[in-house]
Amino acid sequence: MNPNNISGFYNSMASCFKKYTGAMPSIPGRRPEAEGAATPEPSLEGASGGDTPLMEPELPELPEEQKLPPGVLHIQEGGIVYKILTEEQSDAAVDLLCNHFFKDEPLGKALHLDSPREVDHWLANLLPYIIRHDVSVVAVDEENDNKIVGVAINSIKEKDATPGLDDFLAWIDPQKDPKMFRIISFLRHVSQEVDFFEKYGVDKLMQFELLNVSKEYSGRGIASMLVQQSVALARQHNLTCLVALTTGIFSAKIFARHNFRTIREVPYSSHRENGKLVFPSTGIHTSTRVAVKILQ
Ligand SMILES: CC(C)(COP(=O)(O)OP(=O)(O)OC[C@H]1O[C@@H](n2cnc3c(N)ncnc32)[C@H](O)[C@@H]1OP(=O)(O)O)[C@@H](O)C(=O)NCCC(=O)NCCS
Repeated sequence: MNPNNISGFYNSMASCFKKYTGAMPSIPGRRPEAEGAATPEPSLEGASGGDTPLMEPELPELPEEQKLPPGVLHIQEGGIVYKILTEEQSDAAVDLLCNHFFKDEPLGKALHLDSPREVDHWLANLLPYIIRHDVSVVAVDEENDNKIVGVAINSIKEKDATPGLDDFLAWIDPQKDPKMFRIISFLRHVSQEVDFFEKYGVDKLMQFELLNVSKEYSGRGIASMLVQQSVALARQHNLTCLVALTTGIFSAKIFARHNFRTIREVPYSSHRENGKLVFPSTGIHTSTRVAVKILQ
């Protein structure tokens, strides 16, 4: 089905809904709003205490996500379609991440990480293992040859599980890739100081590992929608504890808008080895944050 038709269907259903209730449902094609954001009060137009009794209008069937084509989580304006990332898309996701994540991510930039040279060999091996958890989300531009334009690479962590092949450090050789090893070790150190399982009383959690949107598609709310769809997937998997480690200010802002609460923050200015900053020149990106969202 053409996504434009779906969008048109949603728009007409939305105006129909508005006509009856005065409120707008969440529809594809709108800039995503963080969960918990204030929603406008339904209009009470025509219901202001006259003699005519208020009739309960027969509501049309709401446009629910189940109406989407199989495998599609959400369709956004401009033909951006959100799906669960599959192993077949792993190579394309590696390309995206090498060109748009590791070249721009603040810690990699601070260490002058050379991507793809210092990244693609281990990432191409690791990614299929994470994708098998079935909670990673991909954004594709169906109007541009199904180009992959964004990914949220997410994993499920289990209490007491020995780190497996979906562990980043298992794939990184400190001799061959010392910069990457340094970055991942730092992030490991920051996150391991919190025992999420103990603190939140859960046996499993979902961790956001990598959030990335292609440069040409930035500023269109795609990262925000990737987070929103990841949260929805976590819900489907009955995962109530969601953890994100952010190394930059923009991703921190995105998770905050989705009601993730920062529980730990490590400023780069405080992270030194032999008195020297490990991550110099991070610019406006001043800290790594651990943010958590607990689903009810
Ligand atoms: C950070 C990143 C994921 C944002 O993707 P995106 O699709 O452009 O983000 P969104 O459009 O959903 O924007 C979300 C918010 O962040 C802000 N933002 C994102 N990138 C920004 C930028 N480069 N400059 C200024 N603001 C930015 C947006 O303004 C928006 O805030 P608003 O809604 O209040 O306007 C993307 O730029 C990226 O992949 N960067 C490189 C990798 C990286 O650093 N990832 C995160 C590391 S943890």
